[in-house]
Amino acid sequence: MLIAGAGGHALEVLDILITTKPEARLFFLDESGGGGLFQDKYPVIQTETEILRAFEKDPCFVLGTGKPATRKKLHGNLICLGGKPFYLRGQGCVISPSSDCSEADIFNLCFIGPNTRIGTGCLINSGAQIHHEVVLGEFTEISPASVILGRVEIGSFCFIGANSTILPGVKIGNNVTVGAGTVVTRDVPDSVTVVGVPGRVIKVLKS
Ligand SMILES: CC(C)(COP(=O)(O)OP(=O)(O)OC[C@H]1O[C@@H](n2cnc3c(N)ncnc32)[C@H](O)[C@@H]1OP(=O)(O)O)[C@@H](O)C(=O)NCCC(=O)NCCS
Repeated sequence: MLIAGAGGHALEVLDILITTKPEARLFFLDESGGGGLFQDKYPVIQTETEILRAFEKDPCFVLGTGKPATRKKLHGNLICLGGKPFYLRGQGCVISPSSDCSEADIFNLCFIGPNTRIGTGCLINSGAQIHHEVVLGEFTEISPASVILGRVEIGSFCFIGANSTILPGVKIGNNVTVGAGTVVTRDVPDSVTVVGVPGRVIKVLKS
């Protein structure tokens, strides 16, 4: 299985795969070419030709980076090259049978509540809680220990920082960054950064 990425996030992905898929033969993609943190212990590939050759033996890949835009790009490119995405399931998670989250990566110790819908390529990092009827778009990252309370809606390509809390029913647009430790109490428009308690907009992204 190809782990697409070779930095710190990939270290955590590696740990999950070693424990949950011990039979997998693992190798890494490092597009920058240095081999990242892994070149001493695992094969590291870089070029499209190497990816194509590797996919002939095993087309499975997992995203090994956290950034929403990079995840989207890698996901699309690797599928175009014949790859088959594998979505992580960490240990110690409680996932409701009524949740639709089959195309999201879910790290260790997460809670995913009933009637939730989590889009393709989302990353639910360690210890995050996604409560009842929450809807997440595509490639949104929920950082460690964040709490997304009931009926919240979050768009695509958002980054929700560690240990933040989104209060029930709040709607957050696309491309939104929420700083670590923020408590979001009101709806948030597209393409802004929100920080603090209560959360306030500190930046608007230029379109
Ligand atoms: C919000 C964040 C993305 C930075 O955004 P930014 O647009 O680069 O903001 P800046 O660093 O320029 O900071 C702007 C102001 O917001 C404040 N600020 C930044 N992050 C903050 C936070 N999380 N809570 C409260 N205030 C914060 C800064 O102190 C600064 O205040 P000042 O203007 O009074 O000096 C970053 O600080 C953050 O919280 N990242 C989350 C990290 C994380 O959770 N990673 C998980 C990895 S798995």
